[in-house]
Amino acid sequence: DRTIKIAPSILSADFANFGQEIRAIEAQGADWVHVDVMDGHFVPNLTFGPQAVKAFRPHVRTVMDVHLMIAPVDPYIDAYAEAGADVLTAHVEAGPHIHRTLQAIRGAGMKAGVALNPGTPAEAVAHLLDLADLVCVMTVNPGFGGQKFIDLTGKVRRLREMIGDRPVHVEIDGGVDPTTAPLVAEAGADVLVAGSAVFRGGSVEAPEVYGSNIRTIRDAAEA
Ligand code: DX5
Ligand code: ZN
Repeated sequence: DRTIKIAPSILSADFANFGQEIRAIEAQGADWVHVDVMDGHFVPNLTFGPQAVKAFRPHVRTVMDVHLMIAPVDPYIDAYAEAGADVLTAHVEAGPHIHRTLQAIRGAGMKAGVALNPGTPAEAVAHLLDLADLVCVMTVNPGFGGQKFIDLTGKVRRLREMIGDRPVHVEIDGGVDPTTAPLVAEAGADVLVAGSAVFRGGSVEAPEVYGSNIRTIRDAAEA
């Protein structure tokens, strides 16, 4: 199913109010909830770990999409399964054994995602497409919200060709807004992560702003 799914990143939410923020974005039309886990080592920023993700779980009624920007990954797979991740995404750059990591993620009962940094070519996932449910194309260098979109539409198009008729989502993460969303949707992306472009101007007191931000991105992507 290639309909566009908008996945707000709670990296741009109020860190003192994750439960309310998650409920607000879902009430305002989010399809998935994107959770950015950073370790201060694979990326130069630190967010939260499995205990916090487990605390988010009861607030998420859609799909909890957990993006691991950590290395190593394998020692933590069971903890994120236990925390209730629906999709668990690991970076191809995070270690020498991404093939084994994807098998372990599925083995633990989750959907498996593989993420590519901007400098990594589409071909890096050529032998992983039967092991992955999602390929995440980073359109910023990971670590922070609010960065400028890097145009990798050629890579997105190439990935869609490689994926063929396999049931694999192509997710775009970084700098997605109403201007960039149509470029990546046209190239074949179906899951659009957006942090700053969803949370901008809104709050749990003014959640309708989240709703209009989500609608504007979706309308642009579907146009
Ligand atoms: C970046 C994260 C993204 C980020 C997107 O390292 O993986 O999910 O929060 O934020 P925006 O949409 O603001 O670029
Ligand atoms: Zn992310």
